[in-house]
Amino acid sequence: MTLPEDAPLTSFVIAVDGPAASGKGTIATGLGKAFDLPVLDTGLLYRCVGVMMQKAGANLDNHEEAAACALLLTADQLDDPALRTRAAGEAASRVAVHPRVRDALMEFQRTFARQEGGAVLDGRDIGTVIAPDAQAKLFVTASPEVRAERRWKQLKAQGERVSLKDVRADIARRDARDGGRDAAPMRPAPDAVLLDTSEMTIDHAADAARRIVEAARAKWISST
Ligand code: CDP
Repeated sequence: MTLPEDAPLTSFVIAVDGPAASGKGTIATGLGKAFDLPVLDTGLLYRCVGVMMQKAGANLDNHEEAAACALLLTADQLDDPALRTRAAGEAASRVAVHPRVRDALMEFQRTFARQEGGAVLDGRDIGTVIAPDAQAKLFVTASPEVRAERRWKQLKAQGERVSLKDVRADIARRDARDGGRDAAPMRPAPDAVLLDTSEMTIDHAADAARRIVEAARAKWISST
């Protein structure tokens, strides 16, 4: 985490993007283990800004206050279990529309990506904006129905009481907001490999992701 923002990517960077509950977090963690690389769940940064705003009683649509919160963020805030709640996910996607919030969080993410040896980052704009030079890029998807069921089970396991119908609505709203915003909208990078996990178990999806990244790594090694 010591190289300047404009340092070239000299190590192996894996970008894992995709919509809510597509499986990208589990896949990113598996890739980190398989390739012995540190992993950053960039959604936590936006979740943290959203939660900071809510705690301060601020309006999530106020871009100036949101950007001020983003500038205060430090790595030690990212372990808070409160960031994993349904409300934090919704707040995250609302503050993530503000370009100044995204700019404020960019350096943290790029510094993580440029650490020696490389890194895995998962989010919405890793392959397109944060690390467009990443050597391996995945865009992980699954049908909205499958994602809603996964997220519902996950929230229930965390002790949240919510209906599947409401989680379906959350997912649809977040897909529309994340894909429709002007600033770094969620979309696959032109050179990303699409991985649809709708019909896969999480182990199967992690295996498929590992094979895709192994192929990208072999190509990168042979070109250097
Ligand atoms: O876990 P889940 O996929 O539901 O969400 P997350 O990855 O924790 O991201 C929460 C929200 O943060 C997303 O809905 C996006 O609006 C935003 N986000 C973003 O805009 N860019 C990223 N690189 C990561 C997250």
